[in-house]
Amino acid sequence: MCGIIGYLGPKAVIPILVDGLKKLEYRGYDSAGIAVVDESRIHLKRVKGKICDLEKHLGSDTLDGYCGVGHTRWATHGRPSEENAHPHQDCTGSLVVVHNGIIENYLSLKKKLIKEGHTFRTETDTEVIAHLIEKYYQGSLEKAVQQAARDLEGAFAIAVISLQEPEKIVAAKNGPPAVIGLGGGEYFVSSDLNPLLSHTQEIVFLEDGEMAVIESRGVKFCDFKGKPLEKKVDHITWSPLMVEKRGFKHFMLKEIFEQPQVVRDTLKGRVSLDSGRVFLDEIGISAAALKRINRVVIIACGTSYHAGLVGKYLMESLARIPVDVEYASEYRYRDFILDKDALVMVISQSGETADSLAALRAAKKNKPLTLALCNVVKSSITRESDGVLYTHAGPEIGVAATKTFSAQLAALALFALHLALVKGCLDEKRSLSLIEDLQRIPHRMENILNQAKHIEDLALKFLTFSHFLYLGRGINFPVALEGALKLKEISYIHAEGYPGGEMKHGPIALIDEKMPTMAVVPRDNVYEKMLSNISEIKTRVGYILAVAFEDDKEIQDKVDTVLAIPSTHPLFTPFLTTLPLQLFAYYIAAKRGADVDQPRNLAKSVTVE
Ligand code: M6R
Repeated sequence: MCGIIGYLGPKAVIPILVDGLKKLEYRGYDSAGIAVVDESRIHLKRVKGKICDLEKHLGSDTLDGYCGVGHTRWATHGRPSEENAHPHQDCTGSLVVVHNGIIENYLSLKKKLIKEGHTFRTETDTEVIAHLIEKYYQGSLEKAVQQAARDLEGAFAIAVISLQEPEKIVAAKNGPPAVIGLGGGEYFVSSDLNPLLSHTQEIVFLEDGEMAVIESRGVKFCDFKGKPLEKKVDHITWSPLMVEKRGFKHFMLKEIFEQPQVVRDTLKGRVSLDSGRVFLDEIGISAAALKRINRVVIIACGTSYHAGLVGKYLMESLARIPVDVEYASEYRYRDFILDKDALVMVISQSGETADSLAALRAAKKNKPLTLALCNVVKSSITRESDGVLYTHAGPEIGVAATKTFSAQLAALALFALHLALVKGCLDEKRSLSLIEDLQRIPHRMENILNQAKHIEDLALKFLTFSHFLYLGRGINFPVALEGALKLKEISYIHAEGYPGGEMKHGPIALIDEKMPTMAVVPRDNVYEKMLSNISEIKTRVGYILAVAFEDDKEIQDKVDTVLAIPSTHPLFTPFLTTLPLQLFAYYIAAKRGADVDQPRNLAKSVTVE
């Protein structure tokens, strides 16, 4: 939610800020702004709308300066408007702040600051930060920021520039992510790595309670009390090409097509095709510790939650261990029962989702073992867990999660095999056979992607429908949920995911010719049951599309349209059944003219409650 960027260096500041904001835009996109400081003033430009609107507003303006900051917003306090767009100013306009997060005590701070004579111009929580820094400023920007940071309650990643010290950016973090990029003689602050990749791969990750003071001679780090800190510089291996569309119309489509590769990358080096062994020592939790656990609790949101549900089927089936899957936003407020023999696995592609992080913190009070399953290196959830299992999906820019879901499935399959081997529920021979099946998945995914044109043509028939039902059973019930989520979030068509067997308990009342059903029906132990559910719908004149194995002749005359997938081991069908559903949602949304990569009201990384 919201992206912040800052640049100090010899190049023209505005193009770097605008380019950076484009790469952060997936974090929020209802308004945007930049500020650049030179020796005489701070130039400020803000708009309601997207970065392209900001670009238009900037026109051929050749504003330049020593350094600058920028922001792309997902509104929390104050409607999207030009005046509520960041950067926000103090009373004099000689200091500006960009902020990601929420200041919880902003109303009491605002009241106090107004009493002290400060004039507010916006409805935002962020503006109090600018006035607090103004209040505390006595010749040192970093000291003023430190004092202000100590007054703030809530979450913030901020970058501040000031006319008094025009060759300096001060950044501070408490909650949302902030990374510092170290180029040769140029420096960046950013909400994530994406804007930095084309400039530098040398990164410092700020921790909560830390600040960076960026000047042309270098960067100093300290805490909110001013105590100097030595920070480690990390070398990042993500490449700039990963955040380009590379000929695809949308990032989402590119990311759908990247799935065979991300599954390969996530499996790579972690399995043996000779012995059937799984190598997950890297996760930082020993086999002995895993052997002791008697239960797994998976906590996640959205698509990651759906991956968690697939993980439950995998772990229960292979490792014979009870698994509960919980919505993070519910779990954190529940009187949950958890003890130290449980493993809490938090699944999050971003590693920054506020609900998932809060649920992890709540769970940790009961001292379970904790494992993050995450795509973003050094993200908050990974830093606060005992162990980390990384997915290797590369940066995902489309707001709708696609390739990270497949990468999560691959990591969950690996973990389930690992746990099963550690617990002695699986011998290496059977493990080897499963690993062989797993290794074939990317190639089978490619076969499905080769039929994208067929799904594109099919989508044309469904552009005007307002409701869809998605049905699945067993390990493909979560896939039905995921398919429905994809359709609703990018096309704004109402879609419900349901377990096939539940239809008769109410939802079947909805069925008529205006409500098509997408049924996920690979041949598995619930195949016959699904056929019965399909027939119940068919007799009520509902149109049925089915995702089924290509060699399944029986399904052909039971449904209206088949989306064929290669057959595979039943436990690994979600890797394949998901793809046609992603493509179907994508083509419907794209052909309806929706903003596929940046759907309305959403943001990639939900760092607020
Ligand atoms: O970064 P996370 O995996 O924690 O994000 C969880 C959800 O916010 C995310 O999956 C969301 O539901 C996506 N829009 C789904 O496409």
